[in-house]
Amino acid sequence: MDIKPSKRLSSLPPYALAEMDKNVEALKAQGVVPIDFGVGDPTEPTPEYIAESLTPSGRAHATSGYPSYIGSKEFRAAAAGYMSRRFGVALNPDTEISSSAGSKEAIFNFPEGFIEPGDVVICPSPGYPPFKTGTIFAEGVPYFVPLLPENKFLIDYEAIPEDVARKTKIIWINYPNSPTGAVASREYYRGLVDWAHRHNIIIAADEGCYIDIYYDEPPPSILEVDREGIIAFYSLSKRNNMTGYRVGFVCGDERIISIFKRLKTNIDSGVAHVMQDAAIRGLADDTHVETMRRLYKEKRDILLPALRSIGLEEADSAATFYIWQKVPGNDMDFARKLLDPSIGIVVTPGSLISDPCEGGVNPGVGYVRIALVPPVEQVREAAKRLMRLKNSA
Ligand SMILES: Cc1ncc(COP(=O)(O)O)c(C=O)c1O
Repeated sequence: MDIKPSKRLSSLPPYALAEMDKNVEALKAQGVVPIDFGVGDPTEPTPEYIAESLTPSGRAHATSGYPSYIGSKEFRAAAAGYMSRRFGVALNPDTEISSSAGSKEAIFNFPEGFIEPGDVVICPSPGYPPFKTGTIFAEGVPYFVPLLPENKFLIDYEAIPEDVARKTKIIWINYPNSPTGAVASREYYRGLVDWAHRHNIIIAADEGCYIDIYYDEPPPSILEVDREGIIAFYSLSKRNNMTGYRVGFVCGDERIISIFKRLKTNIDSGVAHVMQDAAIRGLADDTHVETMRRLYKEKRDILLPALRSIGLEEADSAATFYIWQKVPGNDMDFARKLLDPSIGIVVTPGSLISDPCEGGVNPGVGYVRIALVPPVEQVREAAKRLMRLKNSA
């Protein structure tokens, strides 16, 4: 029997972050304890009060069958409560919110509900890979726009050629941004929304993954500015250290949410009851998130000076737990140097999470992404190990 992957699947590069896991395994096999700043998966535990709720919740739902496709009434009410408390955005839980199994699946599947073969989907580069791969699977064409330091890593939507904008159905935006740590202001959003309305383009805002992980001012939601033609993706994964729970929600223009719900009933059977209940608790709590913000700040304050002391350019970030560090020469070579067993530090080369844009420029080349997820003691140890790089130069 001849078994091979589809052309569509074969056309995709290996999932970059899964490739990173292989580097970690290779180091472990050599007896090195790697310090892993690669994949953005928090190592701090899920809050105890959430973990403890799983068994009682499982018992309560023991005979209740499939969960709701769009989330229980209580879950959607909790999501609406969070959006109102955090942003002053009032959403109707019945029409303007749906649960999702975390953001990744929702993002990957989203274009399927809205585009025809050949339609353009604008994707930031560097950017979260499912923006592009979901577009390709839905037979759309990704158009990559660069995130550049001279634009504060914001998409320069006015620079998108008119003929591209005419063919575009969706623009993906992601602020607070992975990997650059940039945030967008309400003024920026106003301009972007006006541009998108003029061109009849849906704004898909992957904003909720890191929106509560910030260092100074709380970043705004695009829904504070407008709702027409906009959908926002939210996740408990990083806000509440619940990556393994696979729960989040989408919200925004009820016409978009309604199509998203229709799409979703064909794909999944809802988020497990226990996870929805756990998420209700997570969304109601801000104290734990405050603690996490302090911890990420502590880690950032250890690592940024260490990076500067080995001669790297000053990097900064307003939000997220990423540092987007410019490095001398080739980013793959730099990341490889850090993987030397004498250093044992894992980072993500920028070119693995970016694509060439118009004119052939690839904005991820020459950068590495550092996810501040190892425990503080390991971040301290990494700061020491980085000095070996300086000494070996
Ligand atoms: C920018 C961005 N969006 C969305 C996600 C999806 O997170 P999840 O599927 O865990 O909700 C991630 C995860 O790393 C991310 O970095």
